[in-house]
Amino acid sequence: MSMKGVVLAGGTGSRLMPLTKVTNKHLLPIGHKPMIYYPIEKLVSAGIEEILIVTGIEHMGDVVNLLGSGKAFGCRFTYKVQDEAGGIAQALALAEDFSYGNPLTVILGDNIFKAGLKKYIDRFKAQAKGARVLLKQVKDPQRFGVAEISDNSVIKIEEKPRNPKSDYAITGIYFYDALVFDIIRTLEPSARGELEISDVNSAYIEKGELAFDILEGWWSDAGTFESFSRVNELVIKEPPQ
Ligand code: DAU
Repeated sequence: MSMKGVVLAGGTGSRLMPLTKVTNKHLLPIGHKPMIYYPIEKLVSAGIEEILIVTGIEHMGDVVNLLGSGKAFGCRFTYKVQDEAGGIAQALALAEDFSYGNPLTVILGDNIFKAGLKKYIDRFKAQAKGARVLLKQVKDPQRFGVAEISDNSVIKIEEKPRNPKSDYAITGIYFYDALVFDIIRTLEPSARGELEISDVNSAYIEKGELAFDILEGWWSDAGTFESFSRVNELVIKEPPQ
């Protein structure tokens, strides 16, 4: 079994309109590079050589033009199209053939952060099965999946709660065994019509198989104007490792 990587770069980017009217959110510039370079470089520097890129129909051509075969990054890319933005878990379902029974490190394409992933991947490998999520304390937990923690375990996850039980956001960096695809098959769309990654992680809690770490260093998504400009400052001030 060898760890493979997945970057999810679909979705509509509606919160960044009109920046995303004619291009994909993950092609917008962060610091000196397109956004999607950051998650790819994190996977490669953690030793992952097989990487799946999932994106929508509209901009797949531009994404392939930009990234190519992976040679320039020291990895091999596989590409899959998500026909409609039906949620993060729906996008992840497209990775089943690619995974071929191997465990996955999954990064949302708009998540940018300082720390390297190797240490967390090593801890995930040591757990033999299940899933692992990385948490980060944030000022605005209502915007994220939020973890309720008790006795050093995540006991509940709520997606964008009005009254968050903690200020620990679930970052868009996930480690899954290949049974994740069986879980996704059981999901129903949420109130916003998406297959939710928080429901996947909640299913692992029910099995008693969700581990977690607190992510070191700064972390941000880049999906809103506020977070997009904050992360542009962070990458210059304290570049990712
Ligand atoms: O950033 C972390 C947060 O990401 C988590 O705390 C939440 O639990 C998780 O649901 C997600 O929340 P967002 O509402 O910010 O997700 P968003 O719709 O912005 O999608 C994030 C990325 O996922 C996006 O950059 C590309 C990918 N995506 C999203 C959707 C909806 C896809 O590839 N396909 C999709 O259909």
